[in-house]
Amino acid sequence: MLYIFDFGSQYSQLICRRVRSLGVKAKLVPHQYPLKRLRDAKGIILSGGPDSVYERNAATISKKIFPLGVPVLGICYGMQLMAHLTGGKVQRSQKKEYGPAVLELAPGQKSKLFLGLPSSFSVWMSHGDQVVRLSKGFSRTAATSTSDNASMEDSRRNLYGIQFHPEVEHTQYGKEILQNFAFGICKCERSHGVEELIDSKIAQIRKAVGKEHVICATSGGVDSSVTAALVSKAIGNQLTCIFVNPGTLRKGEAREARKLLQDTLHLNVKYVNAEAQFLRALKGVSYGETKRKIIGREFIRVFDKSARGIKPAPSFLAQGTIHSDVVESARTDTGGKTQTIKSHHNVAGLPKKLRLRLLEPLRDLFKDEVRQLGLALGLPDYALWRQPFPGPGLAIRVVGEVTKPKLDILREADTIVREEIENAGLARDFYQYFAILLNDKTVGVRGDQRAYAYPVVVKAVVSSDIMTSDWARLPHDFLSHLSWRITSEVPQITRVLYDITPKPPGTTEWE
Ligand code: XMP
Repeated sequence: MLYIFDFGSQYSQLICRRVRSLGVKAKLVPHQYPLKRLRDAKGIILSGGPDSVYERNAATISKKIFPLGVPVLGICYGMQLMAHLTGGKVQRSQKKEYGPAVLELAPGQKSKLFLGLPSSFSVWMSHGDQVVRLSKGFSRTAATSTSDNASMEDSRRNLYGIQFHPEVEHTQYGKEILQNFAFGICKCERSHGVEELIDSKIAQIRKAVGKEHVICATSGGVDSSVTAALVSKAIGNQLTCIFVNPGTLRKGEAREARKLLQDTLHLNVKYVNAEAQFLRALKGVSYGETKRKIIGREFIRVFDKSARGIKPAPSFLAQGTIHSDVVESARTDTGGKTQTIKSHHNVAGLPKKLRLRLLEPLRDLFKDEVRQLGLALGLPDYALWRQPFPGPGLAIRVVGEVTKPKLDILREADTIVREEIENAGLARDFYQYFAILLNDKTVGVRGDQRAYAYPVVVKAVVSSDIMTSDWARLPHDFLSHLSWRITSEVPQITRVLYDITPKPPGTTEWE
């Protein structure tokens, strides 16, 4: 087992997921995890985190972890903590590094961590502190233009520290570094397969549910469809799916989703059209976080009400929460210190006294793992590759107050974006592609007349797990055609913008 100690990084679970994808058994544990429970540890990773090691109350770990004889890899904050606890010095740096940096391996270094890698490559950084003095026994193995000590090691004691994030996809050779650590240094063995995962999930669901009844919040999206298929495989007709139309779905979506759930997956589905209720609740509200909370609340209200009509009475609510939702809502199982970025509707807004117990079988999985699971469960290809769509739907893509007319305008623009990307055969290249409607009108001219209408933002992102992403380099001619189609076919739009922000710093959704 490789243990990952969580110091609250946005990427802690991602480290775990990456290690598991190498076929290595990995467990994410809180940073306070007792060392005596590490009996089967082949290696330890200390994650990143938002604290500064020199501050009071910063998340820390017992120094006794280092002489255990188990290899330790500190990533970002984990590296700083390793330096701090072994006699080195960490301080706030003048220049912070966020995003890409070029890592130069130290001349003559022979680190097992970088075995087989070129002497220079691109890595992803996200830090404000730096190790400015190495501890005794450590040597520097790489630097960037901003960090002299971008990596360090004491190979005699098998202690390694890297300032960058090997777990994010934008670090070149990140996988190889983790591989070198897991196999070359820790001597881990390969295990784990998707069938094994399904069997263990089914056993967990059966154990939790017993003979009780479950309702599942389904939307036709990948996460909730895989959840429903998994729960249905575990407990059969003890499951009823509830599909709520909150009025913030894309054009044609309610119809298509029902077709998938009822006709293709043969699930027992109760359809609830709650458009009026949601729009009423959102009236006059413009702050994104409040909209998210309201939608979360209304969803739960609707489910609760619908559930009352189901016989036998359900005791559980199954939700398609996946790990990126959990991380960004700061509700980790590990007691980590993850910061709240946005409240995802499926984990926020749950009333404290929810009368239904939660069942979230995918909450430790990332999108690509969910797709693998869905494939093994027999979900059709088109359902697995449907682009992810957030629970609050178009409500968080209409910036400012949400109204039916604005939603309708956005639906038209979004349909054009989807059609064009799909017709160009680009759908599989991007994690998501969609439109966002801005709040303030701007001036334009149409047929010699002044037009005063909304700007729309087009967004297309490249990513495999959406923990980080980059904007899609769509050809100029394609963008030009898109802009022409949107402004010609949607009269309430006079201006088309394209979002060229990576994540970080820009999140995928605008609100
Ligand atoms: P952000 O905007 O945080 O989004 O980069 C990451 C991914 O999550 C989706 N997303 C959500 N999914 N409920 C969901 O089920 C939500 O409230 C929610 N908010 C964002 C987003 O579309 C992207 O794929």
